Amino acid sequence: MQTSTMYNMWLQYKIVNENNKDFWREVAVLSNSCIARSIKEELRFALNSMYKIAPDITTNHQAKIVIGVIKEISGLLNGKQKEIIADLPEEGYLITNNQGQLILTGKTDKALLYAVFHVLREVQLGNDVTSLNVVEGPKNILRMVNQWDNLDGSVERGYSGNSIFYENGEIVKDKSRIRDYARFLASVGINAISINNVNVWEEETYFITKKYLPEIKEIADIFKSYGVTLYLSINFASPIAIDGLDTADPLVDKVRKWWKEKVTEIYQYIPYFGGFVVKADSEHRPGPFTYGRDHADGSNMLAEALAPYNGKVIWRCFVYNCVQDWRDRSTDRARAAYDHFKPLDGKFHENVILQIKNGPMDFQVREPVSPLIGAMEHTNQMVEFQIAQEYTGQQRDLCYLIPQWKHVLKFDTHIKGEGTTIEEIVAGNVHSYKYSGLAAVSNIGNDDNWTGNTLAQANLYGYGRLTWNPGLAAETIAKEWIQQTFGKKESVLKTMEEILMDSWHIYENYTAPLGIGWMVTPHSHYGPNIDGYEYSRWGTYHFADRQGIGVDRTIETGTGYTAQYEMPNQLLYNNIDTCPDELLLFFHHVPYKYTLKSGKTVIQHIYDTHFSGYEQVEQLISKWETIKEHIDVPRYKNISERFSMQKRNAKEWRDQINTYFYRKSGIEDEKRRTIY
Ligand code: GCU
Repeated sequence: MQTSTMYNMWLQYKIVNENNKDFWREVAVLSNSCIARSIKEELRFALNSMYKIAPDITTNHQAKIVIGVIKEISGLLNGKQKEIIADLPEEGYLITNNQGQLILTGKTDKALLYAVFHVLREVQLGNDVTSLNVVEGPKNILRMVNQWDNLDGSVERGYSGNSIFYENGEIVKDKSRIRDYARFLASVGINAISINNVNVWEEETYFITKKYLPEIKEIADIFKSYGVTLYLSINFASPIAIDGLDTADPLVDKVRKWWKEKVTEIYQYIPYFGGFVVKADSEHRPGPFTYGRDHADGSNMLAEALAPYNGKVIWRCFVYNCVQDWRDRSTDRARAAYDHFKPLDGKFHENVILQIKNGPMDFQVREPVSPLIGAMEHTNQMVEFQIAQEYTGQQRDLCYLIPQWKHVLKFDTHIKGEGTTIEEIVAGNVHSYKYSGLAAVSNIGNDDNWTGNTLAQANLYGYGRLTWNPGLAAETIAKEWIQQTFGKKESVLKTMEEILMDSWHIYENYTAPLGIGWMVTPHSHYGPNIDGYEYSRWGTYHFADRQGIGVDRTIETGTGYTAQYEMPNQLLYNNIDTCPDELLLFFHHVPYKYTLKSGKTVIQHIYDTHFSGYEQVEQLISKWETIKEHIDVPRYKNISERFSMQKRNAKEWRDQINTYFYRKSGIEDEKRRTIY
């Protein structure tokens, strides 16, 4: 384990409270699995770091702390406690104090690992753990991260250096950093990972062959010892690319046979392999459409091959025609996922899970919630977030994303009446999904601090905590993260919490207004380019002209996208009078002088938010400077540098947006500020 304040993220293990020191001198860890070994290692590392003690790790049932699965320690528990454990899911745990003895237990070693991280978190938060009494289980079955890492060492949409998995066309030899990553993931409850980019390029296609499987097994073993199951992204056209078949048609026997044999081979190497993540028929990736088949045909073929091994197919719904001409308003990218998948409900095998981006477009700073989530009663679904800040500042600008994700999770779809929120849908509580949960594109790389901007660590931390317990408040998560990462000093806690909590709105203020999205530099997606349009010279995402701005997605005069929502959301968005301000331009095309519910005109809102967004960045920086003396030099420097970049970026956005809309509309700023 490397150690530095940058590297250690939220597992700093600084002394917080000397009181419990003696309590930790002997710890009994009863089992001997690979996960139990990780537990012992973590305890040794943490206790040495916090208390400078080397604990006796024993199997003594009389020790002050006993960690064991129920069958190993049932003699230490009373009847009620045994019942509690019987009702817990496999990963759930009980932490209890029985007559001065702290017991951490559950049904599986994985549960124990989570219990240990729970206790260590409490210690780091300065709480007395000797009398803990906790029963916890995760709300979601699947709690996954997706790496978008390529074999050449680059990371698609990576903003924190290069890959920790690959280097110059090879899998890294020294895998210690991967082990540490596994620790961090386990510490916040993540239990699945896919380790290669969803865009599977030529050489990565061979990951599922004997050329790479032995080393991938090594990585899988590391993750397994932290309770994290490994998945691979695959190329749908693998039978052609790897073995020269003349087709990848999912309904052709030789293709089906090829996948069955391939999957058998993979499981010979990795018996606990999780399955495949698939991006098909999107952004030039191959898929079933080539053969006139649909997504159910494509995913079911893979599901059949994986089923005997309990493997899963995670099939992405980010499917749209990227070369569509946006000047033609009869097409609407926002509609695509729902239009493609909804008609297929019920046709997918039970080990297929559809992975749906949180919004209908692409991880913008503000989007409505995807209407596809929850719309398929008979098809497993999981939601996809992006921890990597592709459109939200790329880990140069600060954007604490937990409030955004909370907003999504709390959204009431009304699909089965009031209270059918995204949170309950992905937890499998609304429809009886066999598998469901959350996935997110990771934000880590080989930078010293993992995430480029040290403050972006909070997004990884928070994502994990939310997958386990989506009920946690964004503020609570921020506080936990700050305390563990920077210590308990009141002024640090208060200031950093404010900085984090304000950052999403600030980012929104100086970038694309009122839900319109984009306006970013094509391809790089950082910095402003109002008319920037990815795939052709023609068309914009915002439809601004001299009179007005916004995309008409209404049923009567627009693309009809609003019809994809259940009532009353359909009405809420379709009707301009009820559509919330923050999404107005996503759903409606309006004149610049249209008055928002806030009382401002659209154009004045644009000017005001862009002036204030920049000023708010200046305030963030001033606040940050007030706690300088309490932050160690490397991290202070890193964050300060990122703030300077953010300030430059915010200024550029402010000036470009204001100038563009001033010129386009010809309407003066009411406050007569200078617009260049
Ligand atoms: C975005 C992103 C791509 C990525 C794609 C996806 O479009 O810019 O880099 O491949 O999403 O989610 O598949």
